[in-house]
Amino acid sequence: MPKKKEPLYVVRNSAIHGRGVFAARTIRKGTCIVEYKGERIDNDEADKRYDEANMRRHHTFLFTLSKITVVDGSPETGGGDASFINHSCEPNCEALIGGGTIHIYALNTIYPGTELLYDYQYELTKDPTDRKFYVCRCGADTCRGTIMKAAKPRRPKAKKLPKRRRRTAR
Ligand SMILES: C[S@@+](CC[C@H](N)C(=O)[O-])C[C@H]1O[C@@H](n2cnc3c(N)ncnc32)[C@H](O)[C@@H]1O
Ligand SMILES: [Zn+2]
Repeated sequence: MPKKKEPLYVVRNSAIHGRGVFAARTIRKGTCIVEYKGERIDNDEADKRYDEANMRRHHTFLFTLSKITVVDGSPETGGGDASFINHSCEPNCEALIGGGTIHIYALNTIYPGTELLYDYQYELTKDPTDRKFYVCRCGADTCRGTIMKAAKPRRPKAKKLPKRRRRTAR
């Protein structure tokens, strides 16, 4: 009888947050690991289900699929293992949307025991207190300190040349 293949990953406690997903076998770069499953709802329903105003720290299972559709991947609404993948500012996975579905892919080869992580890139807000609400504990050297998107770099502003050097070459 052919040997049954071990699963690609396991869900267990994470040092980053709650439960996380860890490679159980070597996962090659580019592998489609798992689908982010859940119930498709609109933004109003998402706001009803997750009262962020009364949370001390942000914690939801929502993934934005489009401007009008959000996937609620909570275990109560048909979520699967992908719902437990934590965020990192130096991710080894990425979430890609295609054909109305979300799948998690390996960005590089991931070895057994390594936590699977993608960059959540939550919409950046202007409220400075949100950095605490969306705090990141990924521990990466380049951690942004928040699970929100990186701020757009401001355009570099060129210094004016001193007047005497403003002549153009003949
Ligand atoms: C979809 S859940 C991920 C699974 C989560 N660990 C759990 O056990 O429920 C997303 C939530 O996990 C937490 N989280 C994920 N990555 C994090 C990180 N790098 N730093 C802090 N919290 C994180 C945040 O509360 C976020 O809203
Ligand atoms: Zn981080």
